[in-house]
Amino acid sequence: MCGIVAYSGKKESVINSLVTGLKRLEYRGYDSAGIAAISSSGIYDKKTVGKVTNLERAVLEDQPVGLNGIGIAHTRWATHGEPTVANAHPHASADGRIWVVHNGIIENYLEIKKNLQKKGIKFTSQTDTEVVAKLIGDLYKGDLRSAVLETVAQLKGAFALCIISKDEPERLIGVKYASPLLVGIGKDELIIASDASAIIERTKKVVYLEDGELVDINKSDYEVVSFQDEAIDKSVEKIDWDVDAASKQGYEHYLLKEIMEQPEAIENSLRGRILLDEADVRFGGLMDVSARLKDINRVVLLGVGTSYYSAKLGELYFNALTSIPATAAMSPEYRYTKNNIDKNTWLIAVSQSGETADTIAAIEEAKRHGALVTGLVNVVGSSISRMTDAGVYNHTGPEISVASTKAFTSQSLLLLMHAILLGRQQGLDFSASKKLIRAVVDLPKSIGEVLKSRDLIEKVASSIRKDNDLFYLGRQYNYPIALEGALKIKELAYIHAEGLSGGELKHGFIALIEPGFTTIAIATDDVVKDKMIANIAEVKARKGRVVAIANEVIKQADATVVVPNIGSDMLQPLVNNIALQLIAYYVAKERKLDIDQPRNLAKSVTVE
Ligand code: M6R
Repeated sequence: MCGIVAYSGKKESVINSLVTGLKRLEYRGYDSAGIAAISSSGIYDKKTVGKVTNLERAVLEDQPVGLNGIGIAHTRWATHGEPTVANAHPHASADGRIWVVHNGIIENYLEIKKNLQKKGIKFTSQTDTEVVAKLIGDLYKGDLRSAVLETVAQLKGAFALCIISKDEPERLIGVKYASPLLVGIGKDELIIASDASAIIERTKKVVYLEDGELVDINKSDYEVVSFQDEAIDKSVEKIDWDVDAASKQGYEHYLLKEIMEQPEAIENSLRGRILLDEADVRFGGLMDVSARLKDINRVVLLGVGTSYYSAKLGELYFNALTSIPATAAMSPEYRYTKNNIDKNTWLIAVSQSGETADTIAAIEEAKRHGALVTGLVNVVGSSISRMTDAGVYNHTGPEISVASTKAFTSQSLLLLMHAILLGRQQGLDFSASKKLIRAVVDLPKSIGEVLKSRDLIEKVASSIRKDNDLFYLGRQYNYPIALEGALKIKELAYIHAEGLSGGELKHGFIALIEPGFTTIAIATDDVVKDKMIANIAEVKARKGRVVAIANEVIKQADATVVVPNIGSDMLQPLVNNIALQLIAYYVAKERKLDIDQPRNLAKSVTVE
């Protein structure tokens, strides 16, 4: 949600680095963008509505001169105020000498704004960010760092900030509190960004800032201090993926690339974690908490959106493979329900980005109750990975397209492996476990087979491109897949869709079935297949249309996407889901929509 990039280095690279960095971050927010850079005549600034290319074009037209190599930039996902030039970042102090970009939310901005207005300071935007710029300007007495530290002491909420001042042209300051920020250490250049994708083209060396830290850059030197201005010794880490992983590699969209690379992404998730001979799994990231895992009497799987649906699959896996009760919990609701958690509860926080504000708030709640909290996170070094007691990374590489695909497959698979881990501790049968693990190892190949039939899936997708409403039906392990399939087509193709258990259909929903209403029914070979066939018949009896996902052609259905039978009820849904991902992709493509950046969405939702 919103992207920040800030640069200190070679004069000739400043605009190019900022714009390229913003393009890499655009998936986080894309309704307006802006730039401010220090120049010999003061500050050059430019803001535009829409995508980063609009900003790029405007800056190219301007051809700013006299830049000294220091600047800040931002791509926005509107929270306070509409996407207009006035509301776009960077925002300036009242005298225009200090400029700020911000990710997050300032909860007490109205209170600060009123105080500043009483002093006669005028505001030109509807944003919460503008108060930060105006406050720093008001407190500035010749030292930018002091003014920023005094400012952050007054702020409540979440904020990653980058600040420059015309009066200190060699300086760039970054601040992190509850919103991610890192510093890329390049050759003769330093780049601050909200996400590693913005720096990966220039450097892999990175310093992750923690909450309550400020980085003070003076041309090529940097110093990290606390909000109390005490020096902090930070280690430099290495990003373990490269620029190729964050590019389209010839695909028309990131989404298609991310769907297609799932076999390899899953191999990466599994690497070093399978002990086939022992019919067991191993997670290096959980070693430190292995003693605590022995005392667990309850499991909670936490997430929201797609990550919640993988948590729902995880709930089924844990309940099938262990004798410990497991429940999936939706992050935004978690704090508002009585959870009865304690030190014997194992809470697994599932999040692709590792930055989702609702999930972070729920983790904090669980930690207050003493629960063991581990993460299942894709983005290395993200907030959730740092605030949990231990955790497992997905290792699927960056997921750029806003709609989650490969992360879901990896999350679900790794949750199954978490359940095997606990199950084996409790005496899960060796041969049952070995059979399951073998299916896990074979999953990438099975996914590859579905991907090969994408042309056929495209034809089926074409038949629903004009629908306005859809049902997705599944049961047991395929119920979360029905939910996920419906979410995917909503966010990508803007079609209203409901994911249902086949068993729910008769309890009200069937009232909507009329001639031509399409239902996508998952009816692969498992213990609930007959029930799903009965649901298909119920839809057909009302002259509805049915697209089945099955292991063989279903004669009652109008069309069937045939997927391979992989012989595992627990893993078959992950194969079925690939077909649903492709359907959503091709429908969105036929509708000529913005597939990688659907309207109103952002990749990581860092505000509640
Ligand atoms: O980064 P997270 O996994 O925590 O994100 C959670 C949801 O915001 C996310 O899954 C969202 O639903 C996606 N757009 C789904 O495609």
